[in-house]
Amino acid sequence: MGISRRSLLAASASAPLVMKARPARAASASIQIHSHRHRGEIDRKIFGNFIEHLGRCITGGVFDEGSPLSDKEGFRKDVMAAVKDMSVPLLRWPGGNFSSNYNWMDGIGPRDKRPKRLEMAWGTVEDNRFGTHEFMDYVEQVGSEPYICLNLGTGTWSDAQQWIEYVNGEQDTAITRLRKKNGREQPWKVRYWGLGNEMDGYWQMGHRSASDYAAFALETAKLAKLTDPNVKLIAAGASNYRAGSDWIGWNRTVLESLRDYADYISIHLYVGNQANDYADFVASPIEMDQKIDILAGLINAAMSQRVDRVTGQLAKDGRKLYIAFDEWNVWYRARGDGQRGRRILEERYNLEDALVVAGFLNSLVNHADVVKIANLAQLVNVIAPIFTNDKGLFLQTIYYPLQLFARNVKGNSLEVLVESPTYKSRRFDSVPYIDASASIDGNRLVLNVVNRHQNQPMDVAIGLEDKNFSGAVAVSEVNGPDIKAQNDFGQMPVTAKDRTVNASGTSLSYSFPPHSYTQLRASLA
Ligand code: AHR
Repeated sequence: MGISRRSLLAASASAPLVMKARPARAASASIQIHSHRHRGEIDRKIFGNFIEHLGRCITGGVFDEGSPLSDKEGFRKDVMAAVKDMSVPLLRWPGGNFSSNYNWMDGIGPRDKRPKRLEMAWGTVEDNRFGTHEFMDYVEQVGSEPYICLNLGTGTWSDAQQWIEYVNGEQDTAITRLRKKNGREQPWKVRYWGLGNEMDGYWQMGHRSASDYAAFALETAKLAKLTDPNVKLIAAGASNYRAGSDWIGWNRTVLESLRDYADYISIHLYVGNQANDYADFVASPIEMDQKIDILAGLINAAMSQRVDRVTGQLAKDGRKLYIAFDEWNVWYRARGDGQRGRRILEERYNLEDALVVAGFLNSLVNHADVVKIANLAQLVNVIAPIFTNDKGLFLQTIYYPLQLFARNVKGNSLEVLVESPTYKSRRFDSVPYIDASASIDGNRLVLNVVNRHQNQPMDVAIGLEDKNFSGAVAVSEVNGPDIKAQNDFGQMPVTAKDRTVNASGTSLSYSFPPHSYTQLRASLA
């Protein structure tokens, strides 16, 4: 049995990995909750998503001109309904790698007059029929907030500055006149702007060294804030974890250069089950915990050494810089160098992937004090929860945890004391079978629990230290016949099943089935 402040690794790797055939007896664990033990306020933008000009994410997914399923703008109505149903608070665009050679000027004005350009990130021709106006219409219709990633690859300082002016400018200038001529009188006032994408990656168009990127991004940031002081800027942190890459050094350099201008530093993580090792794969969220903890330490170090330029003393203005985990997901099947063309990155997800996604969401909630933005990559068709063909769509397994978190997890994140049996996996010495996060909003408690065990149910004693359960507890369980079960058109073995259980007093005993993610929603008194 290991006691964890949820995901901090328990000290010993005592319990051997048990993978037996059913039926198996339940093991037991406990979860202790105190409604005032807050970790931090949950920013709902951690349940954000991302669309890129890549494969069939935008063209053929979100946007399908000429399809009988689309509206007159070209937006797929069925996709839009599924997006709204998932509740997406923040949407990142236009990439991704695509953004590093994107000229925003190509995507404005009459659609039929827009130029076609060679798209080198993913090997297609970009017709630019979905541009700034289409993106802004889309986020407005799905009830999301926009997050635009600037081109810091092949773009110039002026390109970036003028895009911000086009979108947010209020004064009468040649640029804002152009926006008005293109049909938009009022500025959109977009708050979130990315200072490039994965600029540490050798694959990135316009890839630079850490110091070159930091110098270039700093001047872009100055121009951005001079154009609109209300913008929030996301500096490109590290994404290249391959052996030999100094990803920690990259983050340190970027933070030390941009700490007076950037509001967030981005980080990315993709994981996969290449080794077909369920026990190790389902523990992958521990890697997210570790990456966040390391980056949070670097942020603290950099911010504690800021100097006030006027006094020459350490700055005491309380300036904060947070983490934007703006790409994360399971991605390994439809992956590899040389992915080019329209049908790429079309990953099909199974139950074990959904459990990993639920674990990632637990990690984000458990780091609500330092992670204030996160974006699943991506929304439709491309490593996505929504999968289309020209006749309709189906919801992949990962849709359900994303939906349950985004709809219900709000307020403050709580410290969750988990006492759970643990196992040793290939990468991790001590993995708790029970992985959890909790939030409190007024008297509404939401508890998210992944039982990682492949065969055994886990009987968990859920104890409230300062409150009582009051009335029925709503339960949603994401599960399926086996860990490899996957959804498809007309065949949906993995969904969320709802039920209610009664609870009163300070404790609730709940048996979490093997390979499941469960959300409990309770009122407290
Ligand atoms: O999300 C797919 C790609 O993964 C993005 O374009 C890039 O930023 C990352 O490498």
